[in-house]
Amino acid sequence: MAQQQNSSRLTLIITIVVAIVLIIVIWPLSMIGKGSVKTGSGDEVDLRIQPVARLELAKAAAAKSDGKPRDGATVYNSVCMACHASGAAGAPKAGDKAAWAPRIATGTAALITSVTNGKNAMPAKGGSPDLTDGEIKAAVEHLVNLSK
Ligand code: HEC
Repeated sequence: MAQQQNSSRLTLIITIVVAIVLIIVIWPLSMIGKGSVKTGSGDEVDLRIQPVARLELAKAAAAKSDGKPRDGATVYNSVCMACHASGAAGAPKAGDKAAWAPRIATGTAALITSVTNGKNAMPAKGGSPDLTDGEIKAAVEHLVNLSK
């Protein structure tokens, strides 16, 4: 008789433990979509990935400035070509010797200054503020070489 009582108490304890485990596991799942554990809208997702995204952007920027400097052709192709390949915004076209001759005659230093500070329709640094002085010089030299 005593043994039977013990085993039914054991059953009761197991039932309670299982119930507690179920509550711990199932209750948070039922909170998805309403309570603290949200699946979230796009904005909330943006907000949550923001620290990571910011870190990635910072890493990308750092890789550009303290990594290897981009060579003239790379800078030209990614930044300057937008205007200087087509002559957009009145930019002297790469390879247009007549347009470049008088500019080249002012000297590379003057051309570099124009690019660094901007000139008329050309924004400072060609609109790419992350360019280093060395990268600007290389891009100017590349553009001049294409055009003389
Ligand atoms: C948004 C268009 C645009 C971009 C991008 C651009 N340029 Fe220009 N660039 C111009 C225009 C327009 C001029 C003509 C400015 C003037 O003389 O009125 C010009 C002129 C120049 C000149 C001649 C400056 C002078 O003193 O005569 C050089 C050199 C030059 N660009 C180099 C570059 C380089 C290198 C890049 C990339 C880093 C670049 N540009 C990006 C529009 C652009």
